[in-house]
Amino acid sequence: MSDKNPEKGEVSRRDFLGLAAIGTAVLSALGVLAGVLRIFKPDVHFEESKKFKIGKPEQFPVGTVKKFDDKKLFVFSDEDGFYAITAVCQHLGCIVYKTDWGFQCPCHGSKYDQMGNVIGGPAPRGLPWFKIEQLVDGSLVVDASKEVPKGTKYIYV
Ligand code: FES
Repeated sequence: MSDKNPEKGEVSRRDFLGLAAIGTAVLSALGVLAGVLRIFKPDVHFEESKKFKIGKPEQFPVGTVKKFDDKKLFVFSDEDGFYAITAVCQHLGCIVYKTDWGFQCPCHGSKYDQMGNVIGGPAPRGLPWFKIEQLVDGSLVVDASKEVPKGTKYIYV
């Protein structure tokens, strides 16, 4: 005999345990379903491409120094060709700025010469140079995933 009175809207212990069991089963089924659906979502982390167009060679007359703020990169053009040097300080990653004598980091004072070699401050290594190549449509492309030896220039013919 139940000690609860259904006419008063009270739930018996048996009914409560039954509802709790059904609730637990539904939650478990939803958890399993979520796990199964997760299988169909690829576990891919998209990363921005490190290869990007910078424009046509005509946009870089000899003597040009162009900073690409969004790519953290300087592109230079001289009589020998085009070259790209990172703007990321090799100490802790601040963005360097161009000076008459090279590059200066505003954070802790690292200094780099025109080639990106360290000439002062705490930076443990020079500024990397990146590969430049040209597409069939004539556009120049910097590949920031490929470091090249300092002094390597893309020669436009
Ligand atoms: S981040 Fe450039 S000197 Fe420290």
